[in-house]
This record gives sequence, C-alpha cells and structure tokens, in this order.
Amino acid sequence: MLLTPRPLVFLGGKGGVGKTTVAAAWATLLAARGQATLLVSTDPAHSVGDILGTELSGEPTSVGDRLDAVEIDGPADAAAHVERLKADVAGTVSPETLPAVRRHLDLAKDAPGTIESALFDRLVTLMDGCPGRWDRIVFDTAPTGHTLRLLAMPAMLTTWVEGLARQRERVAGMDRMLAGLAGADSPGDDPILRRLQARRTRYRSARRRLLDDAALWLVLVPERLPIEETARAERALTRAGMTVGGVVVNRVLPADADGDFLAARREQQAGYLDEIARRFPGRPRVRVAQQRRDVAGPDQLARIADELAAAEL
Ligand SMILES: Nc1ncnc2c1ncn2[C@@H]1O[C@H](COP(=O)(O)OP(=O)(O)OP(=O)(O)O)[C@@H](O)[C@H]1O
Ligand SMILES: [Mg+2]
Repeated sequence: MLLTPRPLVFLGGKGGVGKTTVAAAWATLLAARGQATLLVSTDPAHSVGDILGTELSGEPTSVGDRLDAVEIDGPADAAAHVERLKADVAGTVSPETLPAVRRHLDLAKDAPGTIESALFDRLVTLMDGCPGRWDRIVFDTAPTGHTLRLLAMPAMLTTWVEGLARQRERVAGMDRMLAGLAGADSPGDDPILRRLQARRTRYRSARRRLLDDAALWLVLVPERLPIEETARAERALTRAGMTVGGVVVNRVLPADADGDFLAARREQQAGYLDEIARRFPGRPRVRVAQQRRDVAGPDQLARIADELAAAEL
C-alpha cells in the first residue's frame, strides 16, 4: 500500500527531527515502486536540493526516474502575485487612487500572510497535477506550527474571500441599480468579483482535497519533548479534520551500536519507544535508524527508503 493509500503525503514535525530526510526517502521509494512522484519543499530554509545533491528551482524538475522535485519560494511567489494584482487594479480603480493602492500592495508584498497565501496558491496548483502528471506528491514541510497554519489556510482563506465577495456583490448590485435608474446599460461583468468567485471555488476544493486525499505523517525522535509536541500536533490536526497517517520515529539507535555510552542511550530510547507505542495507539509507526553520518546523496537515501519499505503495512 506504499505506507498510505492517500496520494498526498505531508511530513510534519519539530525542527531538525528529519522531515526533509524522510520526505526525500519516501519520494525515492514511491518512484522506485513505479509511481510518478513529485517531492515538494515548502520549507523557507531549503535543503531538499542539498539532500538530493541537485540544484532545484521553483518549477518541478526531474531528479530521477519518475521523480520530480520543486522548492517553493514563498517571498518570490508573493512578489509575482502582487505584481499581477497591481496590473489588475489598474483598470478598476480611478487614476487618482491608483498610486495609493499600489503603495499599499507593495507594503503587503512582504507581509507573512501574503507570503503564506502565495505559498498556498502554489501548493494548490501542484496538487492539481495529481492525479495526472503525478500519481503521488510528497510534501516536506517547515516545523509543526508552520505546517498547521498552512493546512488551516483553506478554511481561513475561504472565509476571508467569501467576505470580500459578498461585499463586492453588494456594491455590484448597487451599481446595477443606479445604472438602471439612470437608464444606462448594465455595467456588465465585474472582473474583481469574478476573480473572487474563482478563488472561493479554488480554496473550497483545496480544502476538500486536503481532507479527502492527504495524509500527514508526523516525524519525531525518541525523546521527551518531541513526543509531547507530536501528541499536541496530532490532536490539533485531528480536530482540524486532517488525517494523521502515522508516526515516523527517526534516529533509532541500531542494536549493534556498541560502547557503554551508546548502550545507555539505547536503553533510554527503548523507554521512549515504548512510550510512543502507548501514546499513539492504533497509529502506524515506522522506525528509521540513526545513520553513521548525515544523510545526503542517492545511496544513503536509498538506505532510508529501504527502511520505509520494510515497514510497509
Ligand atoms: N536517521 C538519521 N541518521 C543520521 N542523520 C540524520 C538522520 N535523519 C536526519 N539526519 C540528519 O539530521 C539533520 C536534520 O535532518 P533534516 O534536515 O531532515 O531535518 P528537518 O526536520 O527537515 O529539519 P528542519 O526542521 O530544519 O527542516 C540533517 O543533517 C540530516 O542529514
Ligand atoms: Mg527540513
């Protein structure tokens, strides 16, 4: 079942636990199993390219057989988005107010909300390619809080866009009425309203896709704080209606790691591994061993992919 039947897989978790590593290995495994796969990095501190040993860009590029990868650049996308808006408003506001509107949009360009919604727009566009161009998409995400915000975006954005659309519909209705009173023809189609309606539909369907087709796997290491944070994330995601696919326990010391120091460490990990089994009952669990060195390059990734494959359910 390739770990989950759902076509969209998100890897989430605390900073530094191995999300990027596991995402890259997971995508490698899917591609090796014959699935056309896209690996997406949404982390502002990009490292998917480093792990794959390839230069990536904002457009999906082939990095292996059936495997594409892309690094989404939030700030660059936000800037492009604002430029499009500036071009759009030129035809819809009066020449006197145009400079003020443009100044406002320039300020909005760097706001976190704009960057995140541009990021989200890109995610939606990529999701539209699955099924189709890709059978599966694996998303590497930034640390937990950021992921939760990102996944909550469709709900938030839908509400916001719906408010704007309602306001605009009222104004358009008023314009039509006044035009009618003056005996003029109807002012016709409202481009802003059309855009808002299109966005509303887009966000609604994105939300459905996340609920129906996405599974979020939580990566953690066998230690106290990551266990607590993972339990919190699991609750929050479940409340938001998201499907938590399972947990990936990374950096598990292998049985043959020798020396007193490592033996003591392994004993402590054993306690935490038991606790993880108790705290996430019924959730699929995958273990990934602590490697001798940092994970980089196709050979090491393939080794981790083998561990994921061994855990297949
Ligand atoms: N099982 C492992 N064995 C050895 N090194 C590992 C293992 N998993 C991850 N690492 C190393 O740990 C570091 C952090 O891993 P990674 O970048 O995947 O974490 P992350 O959760 O994506 O971090 P961030 O939250 O900063 O995005 C990397 O140098 C990686 O090579
Ligand atoms: Mg990362």
